Amino acid sequence: MRKIALRFGLMLAALPIANTAAAASEPTVSDPSVVVRAPTVPVVTDDQNLFESFGGREGLVRIMDDVMERWMANPRTRPFFENSDRTVVKARLVEQFCVIMNGPCTYSGRSMAEVHRGMNVNEGAFFALVEELQRTLNAMDVPFQAQNRLIAALAPMHRDIIDR
Ligand code: HEM
Repeated sequence: MRKIALRFGLMLAALPIANTAAAASEPTVSDPSVVVRAPTVPVVTDDQNLFESFGGREGLVRIMDDVMERWMANPRTRPFFENSDRTVVKARLVEQFCVIMNGPCTYSGRSMAEVHRGMNVNEGAFFALVEELQRTLNAMDVPFQAQNRLIAALAPMHRDIIDR
């Protein structure tokens, strides 16, 4: 976690560790061979304004539109997304982030373990994806504290996303 936090340019000591709770809507895993190591929709429970800091659902739609363009422009992330249905991925990401931020949404996608299994995502691709997300959030003037809360909730998901 510390290494992950440092790669995100965050000071773990200064990071407001997200107070998260597994959502009731945690997706079920259909394949019993999939091992889940981290929640897919860990709800940040102690910041009611977080969702508004990201502009609500409309803000999240704008964020996903912007970041998907960045992921497609980045040679580390583009190969993963070029054959995916990016409209669906963006819609699911909006839902996922909305639920994480305690917004009024339901996540209809699969668990992170199941979605990314066998994709051969490495650390470089993971960090590139998060860095592009941070660029989008900066461009959209999302307050740094709010960004940190989201990133702290996402970081543990690397266990289910990176293939070692
Ligand atoms: C914390 C980081 C990440 C989060 C929160 C995340 C979240 C998601 C979500 C919600 C979906 C849609 C799930 C569904 O359709 O059921 C998805 C799909 C996908 N993700 Fe990620 N993801 C992350 C990291 C990555 C990384 C690092 C890569 C590769 C560089 C990646 C590549 C993909 C691809 C290619 C799909 C589409 C899969 C398909 O169409 O079947 N993701 N991700």
